[in-house]
Amino acid sequence: MKISAVIFDLDGVIVSTDEYHYQAWKQISDQENIYFDRKINERLRGVSRMESLDIILSHSDKAYSESEKQQLALRKNDIYCELLNKLSPNDILPGVINLLISLKARNINIAIGSSSKNTPFILEQIGLTANFDSIADGNSIKNSKPDPEVFLLAAKMLGVKPEECAIIEDAQAGIDAAKAAGMKAVGIGTAANCLNADMKLQDLANLDIDQLLEVNEIRS
Ligand code: BG6
Ligand code: MG
Repeated sequence: MKISAVIFDLDGVIVSTDEYHYQAWKQISDQENIYFDRKINERLRGVSRMESLDIILSHSDKAYSESEKQQLALRKNDIYCELLNKLSPNDILPGVINLLISLKARNINIAIGSSSKNTPFILEQIGLTANFDSIADGNSIKNSKPDPEVFLLAAKMLGVKPEECAIIEDAQAGIDAAKAAGMKAVGIGTAANCLNADMKLQDLANLDIDQLLEVNEIRS
């Protein structure tokens, strides 16, 4: 089956927001006296806001009620969104713009498949909203990666079969979601270490578009 659509994760693939997530969660965990470091922050890649909070709270002895957790997540998001105001088109990661142009020139469908509820805001900040044919994000799904829901939704929005899609991801949870959806998985950055990725790259500037689109047997 030929690849007719490429679905991009957002955070860590189109733009790097790791540091802003870290700073926002760090402020919250300091206020709550909970141990949190960059290593723990890496485990939050690809997973939803509430699941990220659960990982952070697993380092606390206190039992938080559902409403307290909602309050903490809201506070974190306010700090995070304040930091996102700094984002601009200069923050688009290397190779992204060239790849989007090349895919358009070949009539390949392009979508976002992200766990983030801030996807619309981030795309506006970096000026790329109009570059995607469809956007599936944390606002439109029930189950976050590694569940395949967000990628299956993106494929449905594009009107293509899962096996025609290639996913570009920087997180193990995202590679697992892509494979669970029956899609080709390209791991970049830290996800280049993922054993189940079909292609592994340091960044998108090193991507060979013919290799990406070639007919490959998709491993399950
Ligand atoms: C993912 C990030 O894209 O979005 C995760 O990799 C983050 O780290 C998740 O937790 C949810 O983000 P948001 O913007 O909805 O809080
Ligand atoms: Mg990511």
